[in-house]
Amino acid sequence: MRALSAAWRLAAGAFFALTLAALGGCTIMAPERPTQVTLPGQPFTPIDPYAQVAEMKGGVNVWVDELRPDEPPHAPFVPSRHFKIIRDGGFSTVRLVLATFDHMDGSLKLDAQYLARIDEFVTAALDAGLTVIVDEHDYGLCGMDLILCRAKLNAFWSQVAPRYRDMPNRLIFEMLNEPHQALTAEAWNKQLVETLAVIRASNPTRNVIIGPGNWNGIEFLPKLVLPADDRHIIATFHYYHPMEFTHQGAVWVPQFDKLGVTWGTKADHALLDRELDEVKAWSEANRRPMFLGEFGALETGALPDRLRYLDAVARAAETRGFSWAAWQLTGNFIVYDIDSDRWIEPVLHALIPPGSPPKPAP
Ligand code: BGC
Repeated sequence: MRALSAAWRLAAGAFFALTLAALGGCTIMAPERPTQVTLPGQPFTPIDPYAQVAEMKGGVNVWVDELRPDEPPHAPFVPSRHFKIIRDGGFSTVRLVLATFDHMDGSLKLDAQYLARIDEFVTAALDAGLTVIVDEHDYGLCGMDLILCRAKLNAFWSQVAPRYRDMPNRLIFEMLNEPHQALTAEAWNKQLVETLAVIRASNPTRNVIIGPGNWNGIEFLPKLVLPADDRHIIATFHYYHPMEFTHQGAVWVPQFDKLGVTWGTKADHALLDRELDEVKAWSEANRRPMFLGEFGALETGALPDRLRYLDAVARAAETRGFSWAAWQLTGNFIVYDIDSDRWIEPVLHALIPPGSPPKPAP
């Protein structure tokens, strides 16, 4: 095993100190040096974040946790098989959605079996030729409890970032999905600097994805303050406007219970264009490339309208130079039926129009 690097000692020290501070001094074992995972023959080389966003093109969100909070049980996702199917379907990127906080013990150490599961997803997706985003998705707890969020988020990155420090640059870290509520814009701006330092201790030039507060909402982009001297950041946002259409009948947002809401008028297209133009203007003014990390429309909407919407949002992102990832492969915003192992073809084709040029193999 390689000697402890200065960077790792720094990261471990920062994690340990933060954890102690956050947990009020209860007894915690010193973290061990995490195992490193590497892919033979594919060393890390820095990549300009604009070049990376251009390579990412279109992607899809995939849950890593077996028991997903918002999906009924279905046949298991098999990384060695399904990532190839995703790539053959025309996608270039997967955003791996991870709810990691429940997999930590009392000293905030990640369960070894769960880490092995992340390794399996990450390596299989990279092997399939995809760009891979590790997305920390414990936004629920982070929106409620700043102290626990701070400790757990930093603990996660202090264990996972060194583990993947030598992985190819097609692996990207997304710091935290949808900060909101207790993580106000101001609290998030403070937290992201601290968590970025934890990541940077082992990955000084890997591209990191960071988005604004208010659920990565575009209205909060102007409030997002990113460290000006860190030029390896990709900014992200989520787009579900209008919620009345995309979330009609969604049980987790009961205010949108009215069904039968349609999408596709001239005014609908104009709103989409205007809002994505605002994102583009922010991106140019702040010199940050953009990744639209989630968009989609729940199955409760009529299929023709959903197809129109998915196509319009994906094309609107592409024409502005943003990469994107649809929410989500399986479940309630379904693109792929894992039980019968087949694409929902009209949905796939709305996202990836047939005949789109395939991404060249890495
Ligand atoms: C959440 C999902 C939700 C989706 C759309 C995601 O960020 O994790 O639970 O279905 O947003 O609301």
